[in-house]
Amino acid sequence: MRNQFLLDEKITFLNHGSYGACPKPVFEKYQFWQRELERQPVIFQSRTVFEKLAESRQALGEYIGCDADDVVFTPNPSTGINTVIKSLTLEAGSEILASDHEYGAMVRAWNLVTAKVGARFIQREIPLPLTTPEAFSEHFWAGVTPKTRIIFLSHITSSTALIFPVAEIVSRARQRGILTIIDGAHVPGQIPLNLQALDPDVYVGSCNKWLCGPKGTAFLYVRKSLQSRIEPLVVSWGKDGSDPSKSAFVVDEQWAGTRDMSGFLVIPEAIRLVQSPEWQTEQSRCRELVRTTRTKLLEYLKTDPLCPDDSHWLGQMAAVELPVPAALPFKQALWEKFRIEVPVHQRKDDILLRFSLQVYNTTEDAERLVVAVRELIRTD
Ligand SMILES: Cc1ncc(COP(=O)(O)O)c(C=O)c1O
Repeated sequence: MRNQFLLDEKITFLNHGSYGACPKPVFEKYQFWQRELERQPVIFQSRTVFEKLAESRQALGEYIGCDADDVVFTPNPSTGINTVIKSLTLEAGSEILASDHEYGAMVRAWNLVTAKVGARFIQREIPLPLTTPEAFSEHFWAGVTPKTRIIFLSHITSSTALIFPVAEIVSRARQRGILTIIDGAHVPGQIPLNLQALDPDVYVGSCNKWLCGPKGTAFLYVRKSLQSRIEPLVVSWGKDGSDPSKSAFVVDEQWAGTRDMSGFLVIPEAIRLVQSPEWQTEQSRCRELVRTTRTKLLEYLKTDPLCPDDSHWLGQMAAVELPVPAALPFKQALWEKFRIEVPVHQRKDDILLRFSLQVYNTTEDAERLVVAVRELIRTD
């Protein structure tokens, strides 16, 4: 499938996780909409865009299991999370419980908002290696106190690339009247998502990562009963504008001033592609390859795994701990000597390499990583 993508053929690209990669047919349709916009900007921006956005939200809603009027497109998950957490009224002394695996930008946003009102953003340590979903839930839940008002959790973590079993926690939180905000940036297109079944209060996902939409596409879902509490991050025309949508949430959130929404309009194409039988077959191959590659790396490096070798925890990405003193020189060596693009970063005291395998990656790509790691790290 490599020739379906625009990626440089001379490099081994093992970092789909950071920004994704857009397949040619989706990218071409994206450019088609950009040209349509330029052909007649007034009709496009005052009418066509709303009709097409409604179709896109409908397709997305069907794909992620929610009502089309409960989801809006945002340029990225950060916009969705900032919109929500700046809208909620937090009391002084109240607690937001998160894990210590959350994405750094989200942690910054929470720290800013909680510091203003004297609330506490608590990052509960999740001991590694993970063992069972039950042990995970019990351990996390033990961090809930009478002051906990919100639970914020990644569905798939960023630096550690772990699938967190969030369903049990979301359900317990609902029974206790605790709001749940789930950061599912890596979920759409990587693992199945059904928001009706999961039933969180808020969920954000990226569309340009594993769903392979154009850059700058993401979504924000808010459960109906909470929508009236959510203010737009950018106040624009809202109900006084041209958006004919029936949902006040959509009208307020969708139009954040004049901008190019072409990327959002091709989400139905991206969904169709990732649902095709060929794509699904390749995805299963990637998931297997992630596990076998991780096993090879761990056997050679003799570092501790972050989780068992199990599809509960692992999707199309995995992180392994490297026995090296610093991240950047290692990442640079992989690029300069082997032309392998893969993230290596420090998390607490550990240096982690996180590799992603997407449908365009071959067994040879994965093997090149194993060989390069062996050459750069001598364990004998
Ligand atoms: C868990 C998680 N949340 C959010 C994001 C992305 O946020 P944004 O695209 O808004 O920068 C990432 C990106 O890698 C991520 O891993």
